[in-house]
Amino acid sequence: MIGDLSTLRLDFPDTPVGIFSAACALRRLPELLDELGLERPLLVCGPHVRRLAPVIGLVEAGLFATVYDEVEPDPSDTTVARAGELARETGADGLVAIGGGSSLDAAKAVAAEAVEPGWIVDRDQPGLPTEVPEGVLPLVAVPTTAGTGSEVTPFSVITFAATRRKLVLNHPALLPRAALLDPTLLATAPREARVAAGMDALTHAVESYLSKQATEETRARAGEAVAGVAAHLPGAAAQPPAEEDLGGMQLAALVAGLAFSRTRLGIVHALALPLSALFGVPHGVANAILLSHGMAFNLPVASADFGNLARALSVQSSGGQESLAPEAAVSAVEELARQIGAPARMRDVGVDREAIPRMAQDAARSPHLVVNPREVEAGDVVRIYEEAW
Ligand SMILES: [Fe+2]
Repeated sequence: MIGDLSTLRLDFPDTPVGIFSAACALRRLPELLDELGLERPLLVCGPHVRRLAPVIGLVEAGLFATVYDEVEPDPSDTTVARAGELARETGADGLVAIGGGSSLDAAKAVAAEAVEPGWIVDRDQPGLPTEVPEGVLPLVAVPTTAGTGSEVTPFSVITFAATRRKLVLNHPALLPRAALLDPTLLATAPREARVAAGMDALTHAVESYLSKQATEETRARAGEAVAGVAAHLPGAAAQPPAEEDLGGMQLAALVAGLAFSRTRLGIVHALALPLSALFGVPHGVANAILLSHGMAFNLPVASADFGNLARALSVQSSGGQESLAPEAAVSAVEELARQIGAPARMRDVGVDREAIPRMAQDAARSPHLVVNPREVEAGDVVRIYEEAW
Protein backbone atom coordinates (compact mmCIF):
# COMPACT_ATOMS: atom_id res chain seq x y z
CA MET A 1 0.00 0.00 0.00
CA ILE A 2 2.90 2.36 0.70
CA GLY A 3 3.24 4.99 -1.98
CA ASP A 4 -0.34 5.29 -3.19
CA LEU A 5 -1.60 7.42 -0.34
CA SER A 6 -1.81 10.24 -2.89
CA THR A 7 -4.89 8.58 -4.40
CA LEU A 8 -6.75 9.48 -1.19
CA ARG A 9 -5.73 13.11 -1.35
CA LEU A 10 -8.41 15.76 -1.95
CA ASP A 11 -7.33 18.99 -3.57
CA PHE A 12 -8.23 22.05 -1.49
CA PRO A 13 -5.83 24.84 -2.50
CA ASP A 14 -7.30 27.17 0.14
CA THR A 15 -5.76 25.32 3.10
CA PRO A 16 -2.27 24.10 4.04
CA VAL A 17 -3.86 21.05 5.74
CA GLY A 18 -3.30 17.86 3.73
CA ILE A 19 -6.72 16.24 3.33
CA PHE A 20 -7.10 12.50 2.72
CA SER A 21 -10.43 10.72 2.40
CA ALA A 22 -11.69 7.19 1.80
CA ALA A 23 -14.01 4.63 3.35
CA CYS A 24 -11.98 2.88 6.08
CA ALA A 25 -9.25 5.52 5.65
CA LEU A 26 -8.26 5.00 9.30
CA ARG A 27 -6.48 1.81 8.17
CA ARG A 28 -4.13 4.03 6.19
CA LEU A 29 -3.04 6.03 9.25
CA PRO A 30 0.30 4.14 9.51
CA GLU A 31 1.18 5.21 5.94
CA LEU A 32 0.20 8.81 6.63
CA LEU A 33 2.33 8.92 9.79
CA ASP A 34 5.17 7.43 7.82
CA GLU A 35 4.82 10.10 5.16
CA LEU A 36 4.83 12.83 7.81
CA GLY A 37 7.87 11.27 9.52
CA LEU A 38 6.05 10.68 12.82
CA GLU A 39 7.35 7.66 14.72
CA ARG A 40 5.96 8.07 18.24
CA PRO A 41 2.72 10.06 18.20
CA LEU A 42 0.45 10.36 21.23
CA LEU A 43 -3.15 9.33 20.53
CA VAL A 44 -5.65 11.85 21.96
CA CYS A 45 -9.29 10.75 22.13
CA GLY A 46 -12.28 10.16 24.41
CA PRO A 47 -13.23 6.88 26.11
CA HIS A 48 -15.87 6.01 23.47
CA VAL A 49 -13.44 6.26 20.56
CA ARG A 50 -10.82 4.27 22.47
CA ARG A 51 -13.22 1.29 22.44
CA LEU A 52 -13.80 1.30 18.65
CA ALA A 53 -12.45 -1.85 17.00
CA PRO A 54 -10.27 -0.10 14.39
CA VAL A 55 -8.74 2.12 17.09
CA ILE A 56 -8.01 -0.88 19.31
CA GLY A 57 -6.33 -2.49 16.31
CA LEU A 58 -4.03 0.48 15.74
CA VAL A 59 -3.13 0.71 19.44
CA GLU A 60 -2.36 -3.01 19.60
CA ALA A 61 -0.20 -2.71 16.49
CA GLY A 62 2.02 -0.35 18.48
CA LEU A 63 1.36 2.71 16.36
CA PHE A 64 1.35 5.16 19.27
CA ALA A 65 3.82 6.19 21.96
CA THR A 66 0.85 5.97 24.31
CA VAL A 67 -2.83 6.90 24.56
CA TYR A 68 -4.59 9.74 26.36
CA ASP A 69 -8.27 8.72 26.24
CA GLU A 70 -9.89 11.03 28.78
CA VAL A 71 -10.95 13.98 26.63
CA GLU A 72 -14.36 15.13 27.84
CA PRO A 73 -17.03 17.18 26.02
CA ASP A 74 -16.04 20.88 26.35
CA PRO A 75 -12.40 19.96 27.11
CA SER A 76 -10.72 21.76 30.01
CA ASP A 77 -7.28 23.27 30.48
CA THR A 78 -6.53 20.54 33.06
CA THR A 79 -7.13 17.87 30.40
CA VAL A 80 -4.76 19.71 28.05
CA ALA A 81 -2.12 19.99 30.80
CA ARG A 82 -2.31 16.27 31.66
CA ALA A 83 -2.12 15.14 28.03
CA GLY A 84 0.75 17.58 27.40
CA GLU A 85 2.68 16.10 30.31
CA LEU A 86 2.05 12.59 28.96
CA ALA A 87 3.34 13.67 25.54
CA ARG A 88 6.56 14.96 27.14
CA GLU A 89 7.03 11.90 29.38
CA THR A 90 6.69 9.50 26.45
CA GLY A 91 8.78 11.57 24.08
CA ALA A 92 5.91 11.89 21.60
CA ASP A 93 6.99 13.46 18.31
CA GLY A 94 3.46 14.33 17.23
CA LEU A 95 -0.22 13.83 17.96
CA VAL A 96 -3.09 11.92 16.43
CA ALA A 97 -6.55 13.12 17.50
CA ILE A 98 -9.48 10.82 16.76
CA GLY A 99 -12.90 12.11 17.77
CA GLY A 100 -15.34 14.97 17.58
CA GLY A 101 -14.54 18.66 17.98
CA SER A 102 -13.62 18.19 21.64
CA SER A 103 -10.77 15.75 20.97
CA LEU A 104 -9.50 17.70 17.97
CA ASP A 105 -9.61 21.02 19.83
CA ALA A 106 -7.93 19.52 22.91
CA ALA A 107 -5.15 18.00 20.79
CA LYS A 108 -4.40 21.35 19.12
CA ALA A 109 -3.78 22.82 22.57
CA VAL A 110 -1.81 19.74 23.68
CA ALA A 111 0.49 20.27 20.68
CA ALA A 112 1.60 23.58 22.21
CA GLU A 113 1.41 22.55 25.89
CA ALA A 114 3.69 19.57 25.16
CA VAL A 115 6.56 21.89 24.25
CA GLU A 116 5.88 24.57 26.87
CA PRO A 117 4.57 23.29 30.23
CA GLY A 118 2.01 25.71 31.69
CA TRP A 119 1.23 27.24 28.29
CA ILE A 120 -2.45 26.40 28.45
CA VAL A 121 -3.18 27.84 31.89
CA ASP A 122 -1.62 31.13 30.77
CA ARG A 123 -4.06 31.34 27.86
CA ASP A 124 -7.00 32.20 30.14
CA GLN A 125 -6.94 35.82 28.99
CA PRO A 126 -10.10 36.86 27.15
CA GLY A 127 -9.54 39.28 24.31
CA LEU A 128 -5.79 38.72 23.94
CA PRO A 129 -4.37 37.18 20.75
CA THR A 130 -3.16 33.60 21.16
CA GLU A 131 0.63 33.23 21.38
CA VAL A 132 2.20 29.83 20.80
CA PRO A 133 5.73 28.50 21.41
CA GLU A 134 8.14 27.50 18.64
CA GLY A 135 8.05 23.88 17.54
CA VAL A 136 4.39 23.00 18.23
CA LEU A 137 3.99 19.22 17.69
CA PRO A 138 2.49 18.19 14.34
CA LEU A 139 -1.09 16.93 14.54
CA VAL A 140 -3.09 14.49 12.43
CA ALA A 141 -6.85 15.03 12.87
CA VAL A 142 -9.31 12.18 12.33
CA PRO A 143 -12.85 13.53 12.82
CA THR A 144 -15.61 11.15 13.95
CA THR A 145 -18.38 13.74 13.65
CA ALA A 146 -19.38 15.91 10.69
CA GLY A 147 -19.84 19.27 12.34
CA THR A 148 -17.09 21.41 13.82
CA GLY A 149 -14.74 21.44 10.83
CA SER A 150 -12.00 21.55 13.48
CA GLU A 151 -9.77 19.42 11.22
CA VAL A 152 -9.19 22.46 8.98
CA THR A 153 -9.49 25.39 11.41
CA PRO A 154 -6.84 27.10 13.58
CA PHE A 155 -9.37 27.34 16.45
CA SER A 156 -9.43 25.43 19.73
CA VAL A 157 -12.24 26.01 22.23
CA ILE A 158 -11.06 25.32 25.77
CA THR A 159 -12.93 25.67 29.08
CA PHE A 160 -10.77 27.01 31.91
CA ALA A 161 -11.53 25.23 35.17
CA ALA A 162 -10.55 28.02 37.56
CA THR A 163 -12.68 30.73 35.95
CA ARG A 164 -15.30 28.63 34.07
CA ARG A 165 -14.48 30.70 30.98
CA LYS A 166 -14.87 29.09 27.59
CA LEU A 167 -12.35 30.73 25.25
CA VAL A 168 -11.45 30.33 21.60
CA LEU A 169 -7.70 29.98 21.01
CA ASN A 170 -6.74 30.93 17.47
CA HIS A 171 -3.31 30.64 15.84
CA PRO A 172 -2.14 29.29 12.46
CA ALA A 173 0.33 27.01 14.27
CA LEU A 174 -2.66 25.14 15.75
CA LEU A 175 -3.79 23.96 12.30
CA PRO A 176 -3.49 20.19 11.88
CA ARG A 177 -0.77 19.01 9.49
CA ALA A 178 -3.20 16.54 7.94
CA ALA A 179 -6.84 15.47 8.18
CA LEU A 180 -7.86 11.87 7.56
CA LEU A 181 -11.55 11.58 6.66
CA ASP A 182 -13.17 8.18 7.16
CA PRO A 183 -16.96 8.38 6.75
CA THR A 184 -17.42 4.93 8.26
CA LEU A 185 -16.36 6.41 11.63
CA LEU A 186 -19.34 8.80 11.55
CA ALA A 187 -21.76 5.87 11.72
CA THR A 188 -20.47 5.09 15.22
CA ALA A 189 -22.06 8.28 16.62
CA PRO A 190 -25.61 8.13 18.04
CA ARG A 191 -28.38 9.75 15.98
CA GLU A 192 -28.70 12.80 18.27
CA ALA A 193 -24.98 13.49 17.89
CA ARG A 194 -25.24 13.30 14.08
CA VAL A 195 -28.19 15.72 14.15
CA ALA A 196 -26.40 18.19 16.44
CA ALA A 197 -23.13 18.05 14.50
CA GLY A 198 -24.96 18.55 11.21
CA MET A 199 -26.79 21.61 12.50
CA ASP A 200 -23.47 23.01 13.75
CA ALA A 201 -21.99 22.59 10.26
CA LEU A 202 -25.04 24.28 8.71
CA THR A 203 -24.70 27.17 11.17
CA HIS A 204 -21.02 27.57 10.28
CA ALA A 205 -21.88 27.70 6.58
CA VAL A 206 -24.76 30.17 6.95
CA GLU A 207 -22.92 32.47 9.37
CA SER A 208 -19.78 32.44 7.25
CA TYR A 209 -21.83 33.29 4.16
CA LEU A 210 -23.38 36.31 5.91
CA SER A 211 -20.22 37.45 7.77
CA LYS A 212 -18.99 40.99 7.26
CA GLN A 213 -15.58 39.45 6.50
CA ALA A 214 -16.89 37.18 3.74
CA THR A 215 -15.14 37.38 0.37
CA GLU A 216 -16.17 35.98 -2.99
CA GLU A 217 -13.99 32.96 -2.30
CA THR A 218 -15.33 32.25 1.20
CA ARG A 219 -18.92 32.75 -0.01
CA ALA A 220 -18.38 30.17 -2.72
CA ARG A 221 -17.15 27.70 -0.06
CA ALA A 222 -19.96 28.57 2.36
CA GLY A 223 -22.61 28.20 -0.34
CA GLU A 224 -21.12 24.85 -1.34
CA ALA A 225 -21.32 23.73 2.29
CA VAL A 226 -24.95 24.90 2.70
CA ALA A 227 -25.97 22.92 -0.38
CA GLY A 228 -23.99 19.88 0.83
CA VAL A 229 -25.69 19.92 4.24
CA ALA A 230 -29.15 20.34 2.68
CA ALA A 231 -28.51 17.39 0.37
CA HIS A 232 -26.92 15.01 2.87
CA LEU A 233 -28.00 15.81 6.43
CA PRO A 234 -31.39 14.05 6.25
CA GLY A 235 -29.74 10.81 5.14
CA ALA A 236 -26.82 11.19 7.57
CA ALA A 237 -29.25 11.80 10.45
CA ALA A 238 -31.44 8.80 9.57
CA GLN A 239 -31.34 5.59 11.59
CA PRO A 240 -29.42 3.78 10.22
CA PRO A 241 -27.54 6.48 8.34
CA ALA A 242 -26.88 6.25 4.60
CA GLU A 243 -23.17 5.76 3.98
CA GLU A 244 -23.10 8.07 0.98
CA ASP A 245 -24.71 10.86 3.01
CA LEU A 246 -22.20 10.43 5.84
CA GLY A 247 -19.43 11.04 3.32
CA GLY A 248 -21.32 14.03 1.90
CA MET A 249 -21.77 15.55 5.37
CA GLN A 250 -18.13 14.98 6.24
CA LEU A 251 -17.10 16.98 3.22
CA ALA A 252 -19.73 19.69 3.77
CA ALA A 253 -18.59 20.20 7.38
CA LEU A 254 -14.97 20.46 6.24
CA VAL A 255 -15.82 22.96 3.49
CA ALA A 256 -17.78 25.05 6.01
CA GLY A 257 -14.66 24.94 8.21
CA LEU A 258 -12.55 26.29 5.34
CA ALA A 259 -15.03 29.17 4.96
CA PHE A 260 -15.43 30.19 8.59
CA SER A 261 -11.69 29.88 9.30
CA ARG A 262 -11.44 33.13 7.36
CA THR A 263 -14.72 34.89 8.13
CA ARG A 264 -15.49 33.89 11.71
CA LEU A 265 -19.16 33.40 12.62
CA GLY A 266 -21.97 35.62 13.92
CA ILE A 267 -24.95 36.12 16.19
CA VAL A 268 -26.00 32.46 16.34
CA HIS A 269 -22.68 31.28 17.76
CA ALA A 270 -22.54 34.30 20.08
CA LEU A 271 -25.92 33.36 21.55
CA ALA A 272 -25.27 29.61 21.52
CA LEU A 273 -22.14 29.58 23.73
CA PRO A 274 -23.88 30.65 27.00
CA LEU A 275 -26.42 27.81 26.58
CA SER A 276 -23.51 25.36 26.64
CA ALA A 277 -21.49 27.15 29.33
CA LEU A 278 -24.40 27.54 31.78
CA PHE A 279 -26.71 24.60 31.00
CA GLY A 280 -24.49 22.06 29.26
CA VAL A 281 -26.55 22.18 26.08
CA PRO A 282 -24.51 20.45 23.33
CA HIS A 283 -23.03 23.06 21.01
CA GLY A 284 -24.82 21.80 17.90
CA VAL A 285 -28.17 21.62 19.71
CA ALA A 286 -27.82 25.25 20.84
CA ASN A 287 -27.09 26.25 17.24
CA ALA A 288 -30.00 24.18 15.94
CA ILE A 289 -32.40 26.06 18.24
CA LEU A 290 -31.02 29.52 17.52
CA LEU A 291 -30.14 29.35 13.81
CA SER A 292 -33.50 30.31 12.29
CA HIS A 293 -33.95 33.09 14.90
CA GLY A 294 -30.53 34.55 14.14
CA MET A 295 -31.23 34.34 10.41
CA ALA A 296 -34.59 36.12 10.79
CA PHE A 297 -32.78 38.88 12.70
CA ASN A 298 -30.20 39.33 9.93
CA LEU A 299 -32.63 39.06 7.02
CA PRO A 300 -33.53 42.77 6.74
CA VAL A 301 -29.91 43.79 6.05
CA ALA A 302 -28.93 40.94 3.72
CA SER A 303 -31.89 40.02 1.55
CA ALA A 304 -29.82 39.35 -1.60
CA ASP A 305 -27.58 36.96 0.35
CA PHE A 306 -30.66 35.25 1.75
CA GLY A 307 -31.94 34.71 -1.79
CA ASN A 308 -28.68 32.90 -2.57
CA LEU A 309 -28.93 30.86 0.64
CA ALA A 310 -32.50 29.92 -0.27
CA ARG A 311 -31.25 28.64 -3.61
CA ALA A 312 -28.45 26.65 -1.96
CA LEU A 313 -30.93 25.12 0.49
CA SER A 314 -33.53 24.34 -2.17
CA VAL A 315 -32.01 20.98 -3.13
CA GLN A 316 -34.41 19.62 -0.52
CA SER A 317 -37.52 21.62 -1.43
CA SER A 318 -40.54 19.76 -2.75
CA GLY A 319 -40.59 19.27 -6.50
CA GLY A 320 -37.04 20.54 -6.77
CA GLN A 321 -38.21 24.06 -7.58
CA GLU A 322 -35.69 26.74 -6.76
CA SER A 323 -37.06 29.55 -4.66
CA LEU A 324 -35.28 32.88 -4.48
CA ALA A 325 -37.52 34.56 -1.90
CA PRO A 326 -35.20 35.64 0.96
CA GLU A 327 -37.65 34.42 3.62
CA ALA A 328 -37.52 30.96 2.05
CA ALA A 329 -34.00 30.50 3.45
CA VAL A 330 -35.31 30.82 7.02
CA SER A 331 -38.24 28.47 6.48
CA ALA A 332 -36.01 25.93 4.70
CA VAL A 333 -33.70 25.82 7.73
CA GLU A 334 -36.70 25.41 10.06
CA GLU A 335 -38.05 22.62 7.88
CA LEU A 336 -34.69 20.82 7.72
CA ALA A 337 -34.30 21.01 11.51
CA ARG A 338 -37.85 19.70 11.99
CA GLN A 339 -37.32 16.91 9.46
CA ILE A 340 -34.26 15.53 11.26
CA GLY A 341 -35.82 15.93 14.71
CA ALA A 342 -33.54 18.65 16.12
CA PRO A 343 -34.77 20.23 19.39
CA ALA A 344 -36.66 23.44 18.59
CA ARG A 345 -36.89 25.41 21.84
CA MET A 346 -34.57 26.39 24.69
CA ARG A 347 -37.12 25.24 27.28
CA ASP A 348 -36.99 21.71 25.81
CA VAL A 349 -33.27 21.37 26.57
CA GLY A 350 -33.29 22.53 30.19
CA VAL A 351 -32.55 26.24 29.83
CA ASP A 352 -33.95 28.30 32.69
CA ARG A 353 -35.91 31.35 31.46
CA GLU A 354 -34.66 33.42 34.42
CA ALA A 355 -31.10 33.03 33.10
CA ILE A 356 -31.84 34.99 29.91
CA PRO A 357 -30.50 38.35 31.22
CA ARG A 358 -27.24 36.69 32.38
CA MET A 359 -26.89 34.80 29.08
CA ALA A 360 -27.54 38.02 27.16
CA GLN A 361 -24.74 39.76 29.07
CA ASP A 362 -22.31 36.94 28.23
CA ALA A 363 -23.40 36.79 24.58
CA ALA A 364 -23.05 40.56 24.13
CA ARG A 365 -19.29 40.25 24.82
CA SER A 366 -18.78 37.59 22.15
CA PRO A 367 -16.24 38.43 19.42
CA HIS A 368 -18.56 36.67 16.97
CA LEU A 369 -20.89 39.70 17.05
CA VAL A 370 -18.25 41.92 15.46
CA VAL A 371 -18.63 40.20 12.09
CA ASN A 372 -22.41 39.78 12.22
CA PRO A 373 -23.99 41.58 9.24
CA ARG A 374 -26.52 43.46 11.39
CA GLU A 375 -25.56 45.59 14.40
CA VAL A 376 -26.70 43.80 17.57
CA GLU A 377 -28.10 45.79 20.54
CA ALA A 378 -28.41 44.30 24.03
CA GLY A 379 -32.21 44.35 23.71
CA ASP A 380 -32.04 42.31 20.49
CA VAL A 381 -30.23 39.49 22.26
CA VAL A 382 -32.82 39.32 25.04
CA ARG A 383 -35.67 39.37 22.50
CA ILE A 384 -34.16 36.54 20.43
CA TYR A 385 -33.59 34.43 23.55
CA GLU A 386 -37.21 35.04 24.60
CA GLU A 387 -38.46 34.03 21.15
CA ALA A 388 -36.34 30.89 21.15
CA TRP A 389 -37.28 29.95 24.70
FE1 LIG B 1 -19.91 25.72 15.89
